[in-house]
Amino acid sequence: MPSPSRSAAARALHVVFGEGARVPEGWNAGLSPADAALAQAMLGLAIRRWGRLQAFVEPRLKTPGRGLPMGTRVSLALGLVQLAWLPGVADFAAVSEAVELVADRELGFPPHRGLVNAILRAAAKDRAATAAALEALPAALDRPQFAGRILEAAWRGGDREVLWARLQTEPGLNFREVRPGTVPAGLRADPSLPGAWSLEAASEFPRAWLAEGSGMVQDRSSQALMQFRWEGAPERILDACAAPGGKTTALALRYPGAELFAVEKAPKRAERLAQTLTLRGVQAKLVVEDAAAWLRKGGKPFDLILLDAPCSASGTLRKHPELAWIGGAIDRARLAGLQRDLLEAALPRLAPGGLLIYAVCSVFPDEGAAHRAWLREAHPEFAEVEAWPAELGGACFEPDLAVWDGEGFQAFAVTRAQPA
Ligand SMILES: C[S@@+](CC[C@H](N)C(=O)[O-])C[C@H]1O[C@@H](n2cnc3c(N)ncnc32)[C@H](O)[C@@H]1O
Repeated sequence: MPSPSRSAAARALHVVFGEGARVPEGWNAGLSPADAALAQAMLGLAIRRWGRLQAFVEPRLKTPGRGLPMGTRVSLALGLVQLAWLPGVADFAAVSEAVELVADRELGFPPHRGLVNAILRAAAKDRAATAAALEALPAALDRPQFAGRILEAAWRGGDREVLWARLQTEPGLNFREVRPGTVPAGLRADPSLPGAWSLEAASEFPRAWLAEGSGMVQDRSSQALMQFRWEGAPERILDACAAPGGKTTALALRYPGAELFAVEKAPKRAERLAQTLTLRGVQAKLVVEDAAAWLRKGGKPFDLILLDAPCSASGTLRKHPELAWIGGAIDRARLAGLQRDLLEAALPRLAPGGLLIYAVCSVFPDEGAAHRAWLREAHPEFAEVEAWPAELGGACFEPDLAVWDGEGFQAFAVTRAQPA
């Protein structure tokens, strides 16, 4: 039986490369902290270097070009990443575990036990040479078309390869304090972002703190976005696309006295949203409905509307490297239509003097800049607000991923003019 960490990583690779889907949430749940760390390292490397791993294997096959079953590819990829880049894993463990994996009927392809054993034993003879051979293969093999598009959209000048190398690195873990004064040891305050914390190297993951709702995982970009500058004192707030509730929590912390509405269309996600909000002591009126339809029913206006719209998530490549390989199937035209519809439904519900923030964790202009240009043209009654520091974009929150340590975003804020 392959070890739990290898099985979990293999299962996730099958989902990504076999089914073309995202790494499932909770894919490493139930693993011990040490196993989870190893599984995460193996999975991240295998996905980010999948192209080169396949190219390394190809000439070592008896009949190159015949194609390999996914179970063999996955077993070889996991064996190779351990031999090449995880020096803490012993040769024997890397090879024998990969052979166990390929022998597994569900995750591997048992007839290829000998093949996997032979390729990996040869690779284990000189691990430094194996790593060098893999790294000498063209880096472009790990940059499928969709990843190239993300790179172009995120690029602001300078060396593209430097930006690409950065987009290929695993991001750190960032947190936001929900109950002040409860931050556990091992977290370091972020000097440039009030209330933000990051995990110090080799520190224990703050499971208990998160589980009791005293803190939450939140990327630096989401935290910076929610520190928008606005002097308003909103009485009614709407978070139109709320699950899993990170930004709903931020809104509740910033405006504790306000009436807060959280709308979420997907019932399962809404359930999770309700649980997390309760855990964190956030009072919000939860609406499980399509936000556009709900907004069009009319009602009292909102002083603050956050529209954190569904999107391609192209800005999250560092956290979700599999997007590079599967993102090409995303229907961006459909998403852009959905985003515009939500925006059109939300605008009439903004009170005079109120603030609407539109945000997407995407770097593609059709999901952000295009909506901003449309709004300027079609709705001159709304004025843009310089809600973020100039280095994060000023009127359009769009951190430069070459220098900013966080996810890619596009956000803009508008206010409706007060009647004279
Ligand atoms: C980008 S996520 C929101 C993340 C959330 N604001 C946070 O910070 O935790 C977008 C959410 O909108 C939901 N959604 C998608 N279409 C929607 C719609 N038409 N109305 C309401 N929610 C929608 C998705 O299910 C998803 O949970």
